[in-house]
Amino acid sequence: MNKEKLIKQYKTIYKKFPTHIIRAPGRVNLIGEHTDYNDGFVLPIAIDRYTNMLVSKNYNEKIRLFDLKYKEKEEFDFKDIEPSQQKKWSNYQRGIAKALLDAGYNIGGMDVLIFSEVPEGAGLSSSASIEIATLLSFKELFELEIKPLEMIKHARKAENEFVGVQCGIMDQFASLFSKEGNALFIDCRSLEFQYVPLFIQGYSFLVCNSTVKRKLTDSSYNQRRQECREAVKILQKYVPKIKALRDVSFDDLEIYGSFLPDLLKKRVEHIVYENERVIQSYRELLQENIERFGGLMYRSHQSLKELFEVSTDELDLLVEIGMNESGVLGARLTGAGFGGCVIYLVNNSCIEHLKESILDVYKRKMGLIPQFYELVPSNGAVSQKLRLEF
Ligand code: GLA
Repeated sequence: MNKEKLIKQYKTIYKKFPTHIIRAPGRVNLIGEHTDYNDGFVLPIAIDRYTNMLVSKNYNEKIRLFDLKYKEKEEFDFKDIEPSQQKKWSNYQRGIAKALLDAGYNIGGMDVLIFSEVPEGAGLSSSASIEIATLLSFKELFELEIKPLEMIKHARKAENEFVGVQCGIMDQFASLFSKEGNALFIDCRSLEFQYVPLFIQGYSFLVCNSTVKRKLTDSSYNQRRQECREAVKILQKYVPKIKALRDVSFDDLEIYGSFLPDLLKKRVEHIVYENERVIQSYRELLQENIERFGGLMYRSHQSLKELFEVSTDELDLLVEIGMNESGVLGARLTGAGFGGCVIYLVNNSCIEHLKESILDVYKRKMGLIPQFYELVPSNGAVSQKLRLEF
């Protein structure tokens, strides 16, 4: 839906014009899965699918929301903000408002129209895009002096406490900081980041949604986090410098790995090698070695399947189809796993053939129709002040 139509909708709902339009993108991770909450490295891009929020202040100290996807409205005030059981979609705004108030920011009421283009439950970070758009809305309307890194922390807190997902910082980071044509290489411990220009001429990132909906609040994600914490506790006894799995070296793994139960050892092995793959990917992409980068994508998937065990039969099949197609340099599940999407790095001249093969094989074997997105590395969140004729 274009801007004019959204403004018209806003006018119909709130009987006034919005003063700002905020857009925050979803993301797709190129490589580095489940490494962010282990203080490791990730390499995401923002995608050209945004959560749009049209906003203006109101003077009754209420947050009023209308979500065009759910065609539902909701409102809450600032007294005892609690998660809603009926309108769960409003928990992002509730969580952000609460985080800002707790941090001592002076915010007031606002009227919000939400229109998200980011597919939900596909592992493309629709949640992070809503959180970042909400934060930016508060920042713009109430002129908050809030640094970008602090915004990310509040967004994460909101998701942890109001949505119940113990997520890391990658998604919010990518939604806020990304730059067109670049990937973001993030050190999730120091929070330093670098742009990595994507010289992939003749190739594209094709994303295929398995349509198996991933619900992160499902305990599996939090369970992986817990397993990683347990592994740190055990390894720390032998190597006190290990504060997170990021600190485990190849030697540590070899020497002390046998003190871990088998399952935890597999989890640690994934994190240690995945971090290394992200660093290697960063180097390969800077040197424009995209074939080598593709190889790392395949290895990442294998590790997510066998060691971290977050893949599904559907995702494995989608990756396997890619492997058997010419012109595909790499493929892997992207995001948390347990459903969601696979990302391919594919030669432009082979995209149509790849899609046809996927449609044919995936439908035959899984009885499901996948969805495709050709995604372009895009800019992070932006806000625009609207000048309207009254
Ligand atoms: C989800 C989380 C991220 C990250 C990925 C897995 O997207 O929100 O923080 O942990 O899963 O890499």
